[in-house]
Amino acid sequence: MKNKINKIAVIADQNVLQLFPYYLDELYAGVPKFVLTVLPGEQNKNIDEAVYLWQILQEHHFDKRSLIINFGGGKVSDLGGFVASTYQRGIPFINIPTTLLGMIDAAIGGKNGINLNSVKNVVGTIYLPEKVIVDIQFLRTLSPAQLLDGFGEMIKYALIGNSALWNELKKMENIYAKDIKKEWIDSCIAFKNKIVQKDLYDQELRHILNFGHTIGHAFEAYYMKTPLSGEFSSAQTISHGHAVALGIIAESYLSFRHNLLPQSTYEEIRNFILKLYQNTLKNISISEINNIVQLCLLDKKNLDGKINITMLEAIGKASPNHWVSKEDCEEAIRSLIGMAGKF
Ligand SMILES: NC(=O)c1ccc[n+]([C@@H]2O[C@H](COP(=O)([O-])OP(=O)(O)OC[C@H]3O[C@@H](n4cnc5c(N)ncnc54)[C@H](O)[C@@H]3O)[C@@H](O)[C@H]2O)c1
Repeated sequence: MKNKINKIAVIADQNVLQLFPYYLDELYAGVPKFVLTVLPGEQNKNIDEAVYLWQILQEHHFDKRSLIINFGGGKVSDLGGFVASTYQRGIPFINIPTTLLGMIDAAIGGKNGINLNSVKNVVGTIYLPEKVIVDIQFLRTLSPAQLLDGFGEMIKYALIGNSALWNELKKMENIYAKDIKKEWIDSCIAFKNKIVQKDLYDQELRHILNFGHTIGHAFEAYYMKTPLSGEFSSAQTISHGHAVALGIIAESYLSFRHNLLPQSTYEEIRNFILKLYQNTLKNISISEINNIVQLCLLDKKNLDGKINITMLEAIGKASPNHWVSKEDCEEAIRSLIGMAGKF
């Protein structure tokens, strides 16, 4: 930031603030801070919450010399980044991610957004944070399920660009915070930053970061137990990173079926992921497959009814922009569901 900061709005996740009430005390000491607490949960990552935050910024005369600090997981960095990027056409913000998913993915890369009706992140901006502060002490209070959420994205980074990381990750039997190495996190961040620098606006190269996400998003959207699930409502929920982990299996299957990836490599990927995410797979029922495939058709990258998928050529080597049919996706999801209970 070129100018001296006149005031700070901390947009903080309520749970995070309860767990770490003094964390921000030393940061920018002496600059007036307003702490704006937001409730956790995807259902209030919406326009009402953004209006509430814009209004507070306006009431307190925030301007271009003010700073927003987003303190929480991906929900807070998406919402707070959106608010910062739109208020007065953009004021500076920094992210302090407190989840593994936030550290390696949501808080970096400049995509900010809110949900609208039944669609996630459909209103948003691309506007980079000034800085991202990564502190792995936050991992210690995450539940096993929250850790697995971030771990799903970490597996993705390994598969699309870092075979050495894959060789480390695949030794894991369980995921505990103490076993997540800072250098793994740093390598994921460096990889994403490298891609984002080359293709900030997601024209082509950045699509590789979507490996596992076309089918993963369909699982996530179908099993989101919020008003957002709309007509596709279901009793279970599957959160982002868990959905991506299963999406990775399905999209690796497509890579194998399209003769890009050897069968043995596909099976290696599938077997490792299912060892950790078997419980998530139990939530997906074969009777719901048609609705899930319909959601694959809604992906933003699709064209003319064909589904755009990033595939794998090898562990550590992604290949973006392959086109598959609805039937291909159905076969991949059917094969995945067939694995339930086998690992
Ligand atoms: N912008 C992007 O590039 C991008 C990428 C991936 C995901 N996302 C978005 O990220 C969001 C998901 O983010 P998330 O997985 O970080 O979840 P989250 O922000 O919704 O937080 C999940 C839960 O963890 C709690 N929590 C956060 N930090 C904690 C800590 N240190 N200890 C204990 N509990 C803690 C929260 O209170 C909440 O209950 C989604 O909205 C998704 O759309 C954005």
